[in-house]
Amino acid sequence: MKQEEKKSSEEQSELTEVLTEESKLYQPSKEFVQKANIKSWEHELAKADKDYEGYWGEVAKELEWSKSWDTVHQEKKKNFHNWFVGSRCNIFVNALERHQKTEVKNKIAIIHEQEGGRKKQFTYGELYLEVNKLAGAFKKIGLKKGDRVAVYMPNIPETAMTMLACAKLGVLHSVVYAGYSYMALRDRINGAEAKLLITANGSLRRGKTVKLKETCDQAVAEDCPSIEKMVVVNNVDLDIEMKEGRDVWFEDIMKEETGEGVDTEIMDGNDPLFVLYTSGTTSKPKGVVHDHAGYMVGVYHTLKTVFDLKDDDVYWCTADPGWITGHSYIIYGPLMCGITTVMYEGVPDFPENDFIWDLIERYKVSVLYTAPTLVRLMMKYGDEPVKKHDLSALRILGSVGEPINPEAWRWYYEVVGGGRCPIMDTWWQTETGMFMLTPLPVTPLKAGSCTKPFPGIKASIVDKKGKRVPVGKGGFLVIENAWPAMLTTLWNNPKRYLETYWEKIPNVYTVGDMGYVDKDGYFWIQGRADDVMNIAGHRIGTAEVESALVSHEAVVEAGVIGKPHPIKGECAKAFVILKDGFEQSDELIDALKKQVRGSLGPIAGVDEIAFVKKLPKTRSGKIMRRILKAEELGKPVGDISTLED
Ligand code: WTA
Repeated sequence: MKQEEKKSSEEQSELTEVLTEESKLYQPSKEFVQKANIKSWEHELAKADKDYEGYWGEVAKELEWSKSWDTVHQEKKKNFHNWFVGSRCNIFVNALERHQKTEVKNKIAIIHEQEGGRKKQFTYGELYLEVNKLAGAFKKIGLKKGDRVAVYMPNIPETAMTMLACAKLGVLHSVVYAGYSYMALRDRINGAEAKLLITANGSLRRGKTVKLKETCDQAVAEDCPSIEKMVVVNNVDLDIEMKEGRDVWFEDIMKEETGEGVDTEIMDGNDPLFVLYTSGTTSKPKGVVHDHAGYMVGVYHTLKTVFDLKDDDVYWCTADPGWITGHSYIIYGPLMCGITTVMYEGVPDFPENDFIWDLIERYKVSVLYTAPTLVRLMMKYGDEPVKKHDLSALRILGSVGEPINPEAWRWYYEVVGGGRCPIMDTWWQTETGMFMLTPLPVTPLKAGSCTKPFPGIKASIVDKKGKRVPVGKGGFLVIENAWPAMLTTLWNNPKRYLETYWEKIPNVYTVGDMGYVDKDGYFWIQGRADDVMNIAGHRIGTAEVESALVSHEAVVEAGVIGKPHPIKGECAKAFVILKDGFEQSDELIDALKKQVRGSLGPIAGVDEIAFVKKLPKTRSGKIMRRILKAEELGKPVGDISTLED
C-alpha cells in the first residue's frame, strides 16, 4: 500500500459508519412561505456567507445601544473573541426598557401557571416595574456591578425578574437548576463565589412539594463562605425556617420599593452577563460565561427568524430557566422580541397525560419549543390525548437537546402539528448561547436532521486532525468561524476554556458531538463524541441504534451502550422501555434485534437487550449512558450530581 493510501485508510477508520438515510423532504406550504418573515432560506444563507460580520452588524442595529460599536468582531487574544467591541449597552434595556416607549408596554410578557391551576400574568409594563423594584432591593442588600448571585428557583416569573434585575445592575446571575442536589448547588455557589442566594420556599411537581429552601439551607450549611444573604419567594403553602439576619422574604423586600430612580448600569458590551455551569467530561462543572452585547444580538436574531415571530405569537418553551434553553429562549429572547412567553411550573403529563395539549389549547400557543424526550413520552400515550384538543393555533414546532429520531419527528409533525407546522430542530449548546444549526421555517425539512448552519455560521464535519471528511462519513462537528453569542471564557478558568474548545482540533471550535453531512449538505447529529461505539472496527453512534429501536412499535425509549466483546472489540447492549400494553418476551427480543439490523445493517447488531422501567437521565432529559455503562461493567458510576433521581 502506498504511504498516502495507508494514511487515508487510517483516517477513515476514525470515522463513524453512517447507516441510515432519511431522504424524504418536507416542503413548507405556499401559504406559509408567503407569510414568512424570511422567504428564501438560500438567499439568507448566501447573504450572510458573503460577510458574516457585516450580517451580524446589520442585525444589531435593530436593538438599542447607549453607544454603538467600533468593531463588529475582534479576536482580542488567540481564541478569545469579542463582539461589538467598544459598544455600551445592557440587555435589560432591550428586554424591557425599550418596550416602555411602544405599545408592547401593555402586552402580556409572561403567562405563568403553576401545577394545580394558580395563574399569574405580567404585562411588559408590570414586569418592568417589578424588575426595577427588585433591582432597588438588591442594591440595598449591597449588590454591585460584577458581584454574583446564585439562583435556585422554580419556573416562575420571579426567576425572570431576578435574572433581569441582576442584568440591570451589572450583577452576574448563576442559575442552578432547582432539581440539583444540595452538593451540586454548593459547588456551583462556591465556584462563582456568589454573595446572595435566591430561592423559593418550594415548588410543585407531580402533586408533591419540592422543598427548595431546605436544599439551600443544606448547601449553605456545608461551607459556602461567600453567601451573605438568602432571599426567599413565598411560592407554595409550606412553612420554612428563616435564619435571622441572613434570610429575607422576597415579598417583604419588594414592599419597600417603588421602582423609581434605580439606574441601569450601562455596561461595556463585553462585560459578563452571566455564568452558567454545565457538565463536562470531568466531574468538575464548567462555568460558561456570556457577555451582554454578543449574546443579546445572537439570541434576539436567532429566535426571531427561526420561529418566524409575529407580534401576536404566544410562545411556549417547555425547558426550565435553569438551563441555557431557559436563559436564551424562555426569558431573554422572547422578551427582547416583545412576544408573550409561557412559564409553566410542573410536568407536562400531570394531573392528566394530556395536560400539555390542554395548556396549548387554553392559551392558544402558536409556537411550541420542546425536547425529543418529551415528544417520545407523549407519543407513548398515543394520538388520542392530542386529538382531544384544538391545537389549531400552533404554527411552528421546535426541538432541542438531543437528536430527534425520525419516528418521533414524524409523530410530532403529523399528530401534534397536523402536518402543517414545520419543526425547527435546533442544534446548539450552553456554550454557543444561541441556535447554531437549524432550519428556518421555509427550509425543506428531513425528519431527524437539523438541516444546515444558521446564516453566518460555518460548520463542518472533520477528522481528529481537522480535515473535512467526505459526504456521508461521520466525524467531529466543529464550528469554523466566530458567532455573536459565543461563550467568552470559562469562569476563573481560561486554560480549561482553551483546552476544551480550541486545542483539541486545530483552528476551530470543537463542539464534542459526532455527526455527518449528507449529499444535500444536511447535517445529522449522532450524539456526543463519547457516545460512539466501535463495533468490529466500525464506529457507530449509540443514538442511531436507539433511533432504530424506538422506531419499533413496542418501544418508547432506548439507551444503548458499547461493552467489551472478545471478538468485535465492542458490542451494543440496549436498555429498552416498552410501551404500555407490550410484554417482554424472547420473541420481542428477536424482533428488536432484527429491527436494528434491518434499519442499520448487519454490522450494527445489538447483542443484548434488557427491559427496564426507567433510564438514568440528566435533569434536562439526556440519557446518561455513562451510568448504564458503569453499572453494566461493575465500575464506579462517578459523578452523578446531574442525575434526575
Ligand atoms: C445536544 C442545550 C442533536 C448536543 C441547548 C449538544 C442536540 C448538547 C440538539 C448541548 C439537537 C442539543 N440535535 N443534539 N437539536 N440540541 N443537542 O449544553 O449533544 O444542555 O452538544 O445545550 O446537547 O447541551 P446543552
